[in-house]
Amino acid sequence: MSKISRRAFLGNSTRASAASAVLAAAGAATGAFARPAGPSPPASDKVRVALVGSGGQGKSNLGAFLRLPEVECPVIADVDASQLADGLKLAAARGKAPEGVKDFRRILDRKDVDAVIVATPDHWHPLISVLACQAGKDVYVEKPLARTIAEGRAIVSAARRYGRVVQVGQQQRSSRHFQSAVAFVRSGKLGRIRMVRAWAYLDWKGDIGRPPDEAPPSELDYDLWLGPAPERPYNRMRVHHNFRWCWDYSGGLQTDWGAHMIDVVLWAMGEEPTAASSTGGKFGFPNDIRETPDTQQSLIEFPTFALVWEHMIGCGVGPWQREHGCEFHGENGILVVDRGGWEVHSETDQFKQPERVYRMGPVLRQGGGQDFHLDHIRNFVDCLKSRKTPAGDAEIGHRAILPAHLANIAYRLGRKVRWDAKAERILGDDEAQAFLGREYRKPWTLPPG
Ligand SMILES: NC(=O)c1ccc[n+]([C@@H]2O[C@H](COP(=O)([O-])OP(=O)(O)OC[C@H]3O[C@@H](n4cnc5c(N)ncnc54)[C@H](O)[C@@H]3O)[C@@H](O)[C@H]2O)c1
Repeated sequence: MSKISRRAFLGNSTRASAASAVLAAAGAATGAFARPAGPSPPASDKVRVALVGSGGQGKSNLGAFLRLPEVECPVIADVDASQLADGLKLAAARGKAPEGVKDFRRILDRKDVDAVIVATPDHWHPLISVLACQAGKDVYVEKPLARTIAEGRAIVSAARRYGRVVQVGQQQRSSRHFQSAVAFVRSGKLGRIRMVRAWAYLDWKGDIGRPPDEAPPSELDYDLWLGPAPERPYNRMRVHHNFRWCWDYSGGLQTDWGAHMIDVVLWAMGEEPTAASSTGGKFGFPNDIRETPDTQQSLIEFPTFALVWEHMIGCGVGPWQREHGCEFHGENGILVVDRGGWEVHSETDQFKQPERVYRMGPVLRQGGGQDFHLDHIRNFVDCLKSRKTPAGDAEIGHRAILPAHLANIAYRLGRKVRWDAKAERILGDDEAQAFLGREYRKPWTLPPG
């Protein structure tokens, strides 16, 4: 293991980072984030991007990066030789064949790498992102930014300290129709917004069974796949893709889709959470190996409204007949937005009226037709050259997962948790506070950001 990865663990970074959290909060409120410093390639130059994690989303990201004429991929890292081979094949079909390596640390000191795509399972995002920042690389890291709140803060701190561009894969930030929906919510036309809902209903995921533990396949370095996560026997339904449903590696659908949809809520409403409670269970598939709830409802409190989060795995019809989305319920109207577009429905009024009247005209569905995943990646590459703050900056990624992590802490403890957003601390509950960070399995340690 290299020297850089042996530095001290977080050191309860929630306390250590309180001051930077306050500074960052001030920046977020004014839109005045510090510009990432550090050398950047001239606008005309090639941008050399390494991929770490060549699974479903890694390949999707790499394919999009390679659609940009200035992007080259010199190297791909994956701990599973067969996943690595898939990524190498994809890249070779688009241009020069990259080198393949198992250990991501072999790419960090390469001079021919400007940026790193981190598309591993969530439990690896913080360490790889922080080490990449330390090594002077810009980072495109997938959502949810981190497995815990403290690790998310560590990534933001590393981005700032080393002057790196860090873009989180919350591609809605680069979508014109999400931008216009957010502008409409902020315009005040909906009237006072008192309730917000966000959801994900996934009928394309079902019962994943409970296969027995077994020996890991020879193509996978399972110890390196686990990395900082606790040691456990190998089970194929806990690894590729299904890591999402295990607390050691992720936070279930609450963080998986919550990172996308709750981000839109925070973006439009501009408030910090004050408390969270959550309920649910394995009501759909009680016997499969998933640990995280397949059905969950969370209530996240903000100063002027409450956010209701809901998800169901195995069902596809959520509120407003949408499988995912956000609803902003104002006193004049209701804006509903998802990846296909947005529209506004009018609120009604019978109070003091002889008959029902509509409080505002409807706004017909609009949006769609944009590949905003590609545009999000283009935004990252542009910022890598200009050193401007990207659309899905690390701070945005950190804030987006915060309410989802609070909801999961409340779910796991079976009680409401209260949040001090300035100090980034849970109030009056040491047991809940302990969930903000995590122990790393030796010899892995997360350097302070
Ligand atoms: N932005 C989006 O819309 C979106 C969509 C899907 C997934 N994601 C995110 O992308 C990430 C990956 O999800 P996925 O579904 O592609 O998972 P996956 O399991 O298909 O792929 C992860 C890959 O990372 C590899 N890996 C694990 N540890 C590694 C390490 N230390 N070094 C190198 N490679 C390592 C695995 O072998 C695997 O090939 C998750 O964080 C997920 O939330 C984002």
